[in-house]
Amino acid sequence: MTARKRFLNLLLFVLAPAALAAQAPSNPVVIRVDAAHPGAAIAPNMFGIFFEDINFAADGGLYPELVKNRSFEFTDPLTGWHEVMDVTARGIATPKGELDVRTDDPESKVNPHYLRARANTPGYGFYNGGFRGMGIEAGNEYRLSAYVRTGGPKTLRAELTDEKGKVFGSGKLEGFGDGWKHYETVIRATATEPKARLAFYLDEKGAVDLDFVSLFPVDTWKGRPNGLRKDLVQLLYDLHPGVLRFPGGCIVEGRELANRYRWKSTVGDIAERKTILNRWNLEFESRPTPDYFQSFGLGFYEYFQLAEDIGAKPLPILNCGMACQFNSSETARLEDLKEYIQDAEDLIEFANGDVSTPWGKLRAEMGHPAPFGLDRMGIGNEQWGPRYVERYKAFAEVLRAKHPEIKLVAAAGPSPDGELFDDLWAQWRQLKPDFVDEHYYMSPEWFLENTHRYDNYDRSGPKVFAGEYAAQTKGTTRPDNANNWKGALAEAAFMSGLERNGDVVQMSSYAPLMAHVDAWQWKPDEIWFDNLHSFGTPNYYVQLLYANNTGTRLVPATPRLEDGLYTSAVLDERTHEWIVKAINTTAKARKAEIRIDGAKAGATAKVITLKSATLEAENSFEHPQAVAPVTGTAAVRDGVIATELGAYSVNVYRVSEQ
Ligand code: AHR
Repeated sequence: MTARKRFLNLLLFVLAPAALAAQAPSNPVVIRVDAAHPGAAIAPNMFGIFFEDINFAADGGLYPELVKNRSFEFTDPLTGWHEVMDVTARGIATPKGELDVRTDDPESKVNPHYLRARANTPGYGFYNGGFRGMGIEAGNEYRLSAYVRTGGPKTLRAELTDEKGKVFGSGKLEGFGDGWKHYETVIRATATEPKARLAFYLDEKGAVDLDFVSLFPVDTWKGRPNGLRKDLVQLLYDLHPGVLRFPGGCIVEGRELANRYRWKSTVGDIAERKTILNRWNLEFESRPTPDYFQSFGLGFYEYFQLAEDIGAKPLPILNCGMACQFNSSETARLEDLKEYIQDAEDLIEFANGDVSTPWGKLRAEMGHPAPFGLDRMGIGNEQWGPRYVERYKAFAEVLRAKHPEIKLVAAAGPSPDGELFDDLWAQWRQLKPDFVDEHYYMSPEWFLENTHRYDNYDRSGPKVFAGEYAAQTKGTTRPDNANNWKGALAEAAFMSGLERNGDVVQMSSYAPLMAHVDAWQWKPDEIWFDNLHSFGTPNYYVQLLYANNTGTRLVPATPRLEDGLYTSAVLDERTHEWIVKAINTTAKARKAEIRIDGAKAGATAKVITLKSATLEAENSFEHPQAVAPVTGTAAVRDGVIATELGAYSVNVYRVSEQ
């Protein structure tokens, strides 16, 4: 396509609808699918997801612990904890006791801080306010637990309250002794409350020591203790993602190496996983989140389990000995890299090793004796430059020799082009990682202009992992970016290019995945949630349409791009269907004929349409399906579907072989 034509296509996308109406062609566009000549094999798992603990996606989100700072390890160890004030007859508010955080003779050496609560007068109360409140649902049960020790009061009364103190659930932890012991009870809620609190009362004078105070829904995904939030996993499950990239993102790197992601601290007993700060806490001045830490209740075991639950291949990304190059850029010396490489080797053992191996044994003890089937891993997140290449080489030398079964993913830096990108690709052509991880946080217009990006990529070199991308409607990292249909439609058009090049682009994932409406740092995001509800954005539904309609072989389809129309086609040899995608990015509906050439097609096609009359359309808690797929059928006559591609629409046709 000429530069001029590309420019015209772009104009079609941005011009006012009235102007577009005058230009739109009225003859049906003919989309020819060369069904008799299916091409290269493609990876049916190519459309995946990217999970990072940003925007309160883990603690406060997918990991449904309701107590914030349950181990008192935040920098200010009383963060999240408050005293109940007693108001005297003269209107003076004072607590009836005191809270003190200590480390002497702790319950855990890894998380040594604990709380001493002392009642000077019976009835002393204190509470935890959760992650921007606690989401509690009427009729549901919540497991309250804590490590407690005391020489005094033997009972701790607990209440679920709203912000005004109205009680809608209660329970007791009791029978304490003078050594640390774990106690638990279950509280049933009688009301639904999005901003609940968990209050404790000491009804006798004296002190108790508390640690690892937890309030956890009983009703988790698959009913697991320490399980994940059901509605959020359901959204992921519905996507049928091919791959789950975790745990990020820059969180892998840390702002400094000291707060890099270390998978070994995230497995085993949850009380023994060391809490550290979340690197996104103060990253953006406009969205400071000083109370953002990582408890690692959602750790590597849980990530592997999640991948298995939703049918995705696990793709862990490991620190390569470099902290985030946008922050400190701290780099481990090559001679100190052994520990990092050992972490990678041990991770393979943890995921796949026999239960007789030390790490395989831990996996079995945690509840999963069968291997997790790890077959790929990323070395470094969004790194660049010669220091990175040196470190990648050191990892690859060991892993290629000891674990040829593991495919390696190398980074291509933070931008989709430019000197850093080109230099890295030149290196990767020599060093041959299996995948190169490209990132593009670009404008919707860029996505439309780049649907041909991979048409001429070298087929013999490393495969591409489009590992982080999202259309930025205002500009990268701008807080006024929107998850609107304009961005999602541009992504859909771009993804037709990913699919058409499925022989070279073998994995992809939109990023970031999740955001809490009251605690986000980065926008746009695929899924939004509050303490009780969640919804998929238009971008989510674009991902869903692609991930739910994958094929196993490419099929030639023409035109690929014409007058704001983008197409791709695949054959699914598992279901014996041709799957055709046609995206109309213009403001005018287009009549179209989809011709399944050279093969016998069934009489009816399944049609899935995602569209909106306006590019500004967004989904919301009130209208979670304002932009959502609608399924119907279309007649197939002599291999031809006569159809209409609505204005601003993504259309998927599934036609079975006869
Ligand atoms: O997705 C948000 C961030 O964008 C990721 O953590 C990082 O890899 C990229 O810069």
